[in-house]
Amino acid sequence: MNLELEGRVAVVTGASVGIGRGVAKALAAEGVRLVLIARRKELLESLAAEIGGTSKPLLLARDVTASDTPDETKRQVLKTFGRLDILVNNAGGSRPTDLDAYERAWQESLALNFEAARRLTHALLPLMQERRWGRIVNVTGSLEAKRLNAAAPAKAAMHAWAKGLSSVVGPFGITVNSIVPGRIHSEQIDQRLHPTAEDQKQFASANIPLGYFGDPEDIATLVTFLSSPRARYITGEIIHVDGGLRHHAF
Ligand SMILES: NC(=O)c1ccc[n+]([C@@H]2O[C@H](COP(=O)([O-])OP(=O)(O)OC[C@H]3O[C@@H](n4cnc5c(N)ncnc54)[C@H](OP(=O)(O)O)[C@@H]3O)[C@@H](O)[C@H]2O)c1
Repeated sequence: MNLELEGRVAVVTGASVGIGRGVAKALAAEGVRLVLIARRKELLESLAAEIGGTSKPLLLARDVTASDTPDETKRQVLKTFGRLDILVNNAGGSRPTDLDAYERAWQESLALNFEAARRLTHALLPLMQERRWGRIVNVTGSLEAKRLNAAAPAKAAMHAWAKGLSSVVGPFGITVNSIVPGRIHSEQIDQRLHPTAEDQKQFASANIPLGYFGDPEDIATLVTFLSSPRARYITGEIIHVDGGLRHHAF
């Protein structure tokens, strides 16, 4: 299937490792020109080298929660590519916490897992509206944490905001969708949340019907499809990619 993505321009946040890095590679393989955002410059540079090709990605080594990131990203996108078609809001992370967590832990999670994506999207949307075409794909997360997790309310906010936004920007040919990963190999999963092969095996056999953790490509494939003109009639959706981990009918 020709996804008709050749030559389009995409911003991917959290592109240095994990899911975002996989998304960047998948979009690049379809000929998409990339703007890659994360804090660790050396990892963005190694990703650009891995992608290769003639169209060099624009690398923005920035904190997505910084107040000037949205406007600065817009300025750099316009200067380098003069247009924007696709925004993948992926930067974020799980924040397991306890009742005695500091107030700033909750604020940090909301800032990273919701506010940064909302602010960046609102800043970049006019570039899509003026071309009357656009794709916004959010990589969110489960709302059904089995214990307290400061990321869950932020991911819920993403879903609620994205649904409302989809109705406002639909008339401009812009779609807004969210993907909920289950357990996908990434830096946070392999180094922080499930740091041993034994732990991963036990969790997968107890909770994941397909029996294994996914890879970034499992998310990237859907991001790529939702970014394409082929997905024009899908918007306001929340799609789980989790090997069957989730056990709710709705
Ligand atoms: N992997 C999973 O199983 C899973 C499950 C549920 C939800 N998710 C969601 O999927 C997304 C990607 O997760 P992942 O597992 O791939 O995580 P990861 O391996 O920890 O990667 C997180 C990415 O976000 C970037 N990032 C974090 N804070 C940032 C900041 N303040 N400014 C700019 N970039 C920042 C990191 O880059 P730098 O550190 O270089 O800045 C990195 O590229 C997240 O939104 C996460 O909540 C993942």
